[in-house]
Amino acid sequence: MQLRSGKSAADLKNTTNIKYTTMSKVTVVGAGNVGATCANVLVTNQIADEVVLLDIKEGVSEGKAMDIMQTANILGTNTRLVGVTNDYKMTEGSDMVVITSGIPRKPGMTREELIGVNAGIVKSVTDQILAHSPNAIILCVSNPMDTMTYLIHKVSGLPKNRIIGMGGALDSARFKYFLSLALGANATEVEGIVIGGHGDTTMIPLTRFAAYRGLPASSLLSEEQLQKVAADTMVGGATLTKLLGTSAWYAPGAAAAQVCAAVLHDQKKLISCSALLDGEYGEKDLCIGVPCILGKNGIEKIVEFDLNEKEKELFKASAEAVHKTNAALAQ
Ligand code: NAI
Ligand code: 2OP
Repeated sequence: MQLRSGKSAADLKNTTNIKYTTMSKVTVVGAGNVGATCANVLVTNQIADEVVLLDIKEGVSEGKAMDIMQTANILGTNTRLVGVTNDYKMTEGSDMVVITSGIPRKPGMTREELIGVNAGIVKSVTDQILAHSPNAIILCVSNPMDTMTYLIHKVSGLPKNRIIGMGGALDSARFKYFLSLALGANATEVEGIVIGGHGDTTMIPLTRFAAYRGLPASSLLSEEQLQKVAADTMVGGATLTKLLGTSAWYAPGAAAAQVCAAVLHDQKKLISCSALLDGEYGEKDLCIGVPCILGKNGIEKIVEFDLNEKEKELFKASAEAVHKTNAALAQ
């Protein structure tokens, strides 16, 4: 068939041989609930140019990648996603790697109970990832996340800016959700941050810094209402695990993609992330949630908020609990 341009359909067929130049590449390890959701957001919002979704289960990542790519025309995205079964060669040259492989919580389980199985998985994945993408920035999602992030530091020896733990981004999003409900406001118009460990009893929603369009939340909500928002946030993950029979994935996957966007697009955004501390907030030799400026170098700065005595005490107790979980790595 001759087209109006004078080209034939056969000429157009050659477009299948186009070689793409990749500007940014992300590998997501684990094509389960969180990994596949993260890949979906990376594709839908065109956060990276190329995404590789890797899992050990034969066919699962290929199938999920194909399903997601079949939304490309409907949703209007040009990001390319491929799914692979344990083929690390395909991950080569990744700018960023999101580790979601591991087992999730079941109702009644804490994140800390996952340590034995997930430590083995996270270690082997880190080794294989770095063998193919030695310059990648690693984002750890697998639980217990602060301890897994610390483990990645120990096994990789990478500079601390290149290892980020995702927990605070999710906990802060949940905090803002519960704040928006209490205020009767849009979630996009509230501000709030959660620091500390990513655990039901270790996270610290900083109610004193919460705001609605610049107005302190404490001027709009009673102390009792604010405490309820904080309590709902802290059990946010457990509440969903009870409802779903496994842990949540939409907000966790989106939060991981948000961190990728901040790094890949050099956004210099302030996001609560698990970072290796070396004296900041009075702590050393552990990864825990703190406000971080994220840009193309990963964690570019840890921001020290002016905590009051009570917040400092809570942070100290949270750090002690994370140290205790880290000690289980040696067993
Ligand atoms: P899931 O069970 O749906 O998916 C995990 C996937 O990892 C499975 O498809 C499994 O085949 C794969 N996998 C296991 N070993 C692997 C290996 N060696 N290499 C590659 N893939 C491997 O679990 P889900 O819900 O996606 O959760 C994943 C992890 O993320 C869990 O540890 C969960 O606790 C954690 N999580 C962390 C959050 C956070 O805020 N940090 C939030 C939600 C979940
Ligand atoms: C969550 O917060 C379990 O870490 C997982 O949903």
